[in-house]
Amino acid sequence: MKIFAHRGSSGTHPENTLAAFKAAAALPIDGVEIDVHLTKDGEIAVIHDERINRTTDGKGYVKDMTMDELQEYDAGSWFSEEWSGERIPTLDEVFEIFEDTPHRLNIEIKSDVFPYDTLVDKVINLANKRGLMDRLLLSSFNHEDVLHICRETEVKSAILTSQIYVDVYDYARVIGTKQIHVSLPAAFRKMTSDALRKGSIVYVYTVNTIEYAEQLQQIGIHGIFTDYPERMLEKLK
Ligand code: G3P
Ligand code: MG
Repeated sequence: MKIFAHRGSSGTHPENTLAAFKAAAALPIDGVEIDVHLTKDGEIAVIHDERINRTTDGKGYVKDMTMDELQEYDAGSWFSEEWSGERIPTLDEVFEIFEDTPHRLNIEIKSDVFPYDTLVDKVINLANKRGLMDRLLLSSFNHEDVLHICRETEVKSAILTSQIYVDVYDYARVIGTKQIHVSLPAAFRKMTSDALRKGSIVYVYTVNTIEYAEQLQQIGIHGIFTDYPERMLEKLK
């Protein structure tokens, strides 16, 4: 079962910061998950929420600020004073960390609240420029974007869902992918066992205990997103 660091090593470092991604890059795990939004001036900002309120000392929407404005705020202190120098990174700054590592890069396109029409294409262009296309995996709760990726590009992609579907294998097949990223509660529903049996590739978020990780491994889950990749690496056989 593959291990992906969720928002970087976000259990021990402030999520989606260079510190969290450097910690993940130093581990022999399979990959890393990175959340992205689009700024007012069309840059790709690495942050989970639509607003900067929870994870910085600022307030407001990412879409209403330029990248320079966003980088004025402290993205580490909310987690611990130790990380007070951290800033909201650009996707390019994060890509640089993984330039010479073998990690898979799962970019979560955060377009389910604001559609960010050009975000997918900008992420793909940047990965292309950096020579990272063969390690790229895009995912989104916005399945219209996943459909766009499947129809218009060769990039690997997955639908994200915490919802229960009658036949999620078939739903994803119509969109054009076999890969499904489901929430932990959904992982133990019939939907997921059916999908595994039919041939879906299933990853589960967010798995932070070894007990859950072992149960998921037993039912044949292919990958997990965890805030504690180091712990999982040590304990998971
Ligand atoms: O991509 C897996 C997971 O990150 C999806 O949910 O809210 O943690 O971005 P969220
Ligand atoms: Mg995410």
